[in-house]
Amino acid sequence: MEQQQAQCDIGFIGLGVMGKSLTLNLADNGYRIAAFDLDPAKVAAAQAQDQAETDGAAPRVFGCTAFAEVLAKLPTPRILILSVPAGAPVDNVCEQLIDAGIQADDIVVDTGNSLWTDTVRREQAYRGKFQFFSTAVSGGEEGARFGPSLMPSGDPQAWTRIESIWQAIAAKVDPLTGKPIERKEPGNPVKEGEPCAIYIGPNGAGHYVKMVHNGIEYADMQLICEAYHLMRQGLGMAPVEISAVFRRWNRGVLDSYLMEISAEVLESWDGLSDRPLVEVILDKAGQKGTGLWTAVSSLELGAPAPTIAQAVYARALSGLKEERVAASEVLSAPKPLELSEADKIQMVDLLHDALYCAKICAYAQGFQLMATAAKEHGWQLDFAGIAKIWRAGCIIRAVFLQSIAEAYKRNEQLPNLLVDPVFAHKIDRHQANWRMAIAHATVMGIPCGALSSALAYYDSYRTATLPANLLQAQRDYFGAHGFERNDVPTGKRFHVQWGDVNRPMVMID
Ligand code: 6PG
Repeated sequence: MEQQQAQCDIGFIGLGVMGKSLTLNLADNGYRIAAFDLDPAKVAAAQAQDQAETDGAAPRVFGCTAFAEVLAKLPTPRILILSVPAGAPVDNVCEQLIDAGIQADDIVVDTGNSLWTDTVRREQAYRGKFQFFSTAVSGGEEGARFGPSLMPSGDPQAWTRIESIWQAIAAKVDPLTGKPIERKEPGNPVKEGEPCAIYIGPNGAGHYVKMVHNGIEYADMQLICEAYHLMRQGLGMAPVEISAVFRRWNRGVLDSYLMEISAEVLESWDGLSDRPLVEVILDKAGQKGTGLWTAVSSLELGAPAPTIAQAVYARALSGLKEERVAASEVLSAPKPLELSEADKIQMVDLLHDALYCAKICAYAQGFQLMATAAKEHGWQLDFAGIAKIWRAGCIIRAVFLQSIAEAYKRNEQLPNLLVDPVFAHKIDRHQANWRMAIAHATVMGIPCGALSSALAYYDSYRTATLPANLLQAQRDYFGAHGFERNDVPTGKRFHVQWGDVNRPMVMID
């Protein structure tokens, strides 16, 4: 009976901005969609857009008014995709699908920005009722519509059933250039090229990797913002001039989607105020939480990601707008520097190198965090593969990701991107300018927390001897926490009776 009623291939639940775009992308790739949203207006909008894009030809998106209707329209075993807000709504939909009669071999794919531990829990909780699978999606509305980067994870058997669907709708990369194949017309999906969709691993591995993608995204955005701030406040450049610098940078090693959109933003004009649009946007950053989750995970795992964490702090500090305005009346800034035109031109060049080196560090932190998490959770993450699926479709897409993929191809066990010979050489060539840019910013009083946290990370990581010897002594002094000696085999702990003039040393274990 069910088979007779079936007229669709895939069920889609949640037709917000991302859901509608994914639905139409699936439809462009030949799938008929049973579409449902709690808001009937969103169902109608998805159907209307389908009709508009196909000039009223045979519908590809079939609106449903209930979960049961979605199930009835699908052949079994079914494939259903969810695009609902992360958190409780995902579980609500899963429960409603159970009530509507979903079966044990049906697959439900969560494509929201879910916390990866929720994904692990859901896989367990719904086992036997249906197969919960996850696919993290990056690329915003346009990516979802014309080719996102997809990070699927869960049961490998389930993956074999959805692999071809994901490879069809994903962004594609030209294998020769490593660059995205851009095509943005409805009804004309990109068929050639390497799809930005690989199986990431079991449980919530895909959502973990997407979380780190977003942490890197936060760092990348903050680094660009700091470069803008330095040029705007420190060098007195107009937004349109900064836009021109970003456009120039976007033709070299800093070529990236985030650089491209920043250049576009900076040359946009506000008709209402007759000023650059960026100057009328309130300087209070929002955040939905994925950057914070990345920073928390790095703290929990002891995998340092200070530039990512700094980017989260920078957003939080920006949120203290009223306090900052009050403090600006009380706290002094350094005296402005007298800069010649030649100084300014040189400063822009220094900044380019600073941005590039700091970017390498931010990505190194993100990849090292994923490596630590993989060890902790027993995932076999393919880092070259992850870098490759981030070359197109996602928000951090950049030519730079091709170099990261090559670094991990050279050495799958690379402990940190910084020690890859190519990246080590690049930082070696540019670090003097990176340091000078930060020194100038510091003297000028322009905050550059992400640029400088990346430098501190680099300097700490490359330093054989850190002052943690003194720190261990402090801990032992006030808390008898013990320390290891550097002149005996590791693993043996000692404690000193610090108050005693003879300072006797005892071995603890
Ligand atoms: C993506 C984006 C996407 C979303 C961010 C925004 O990869 O498509 O990262 O997931 O735009 O979650 O995050 P914030 O609101 O926290 O900046």
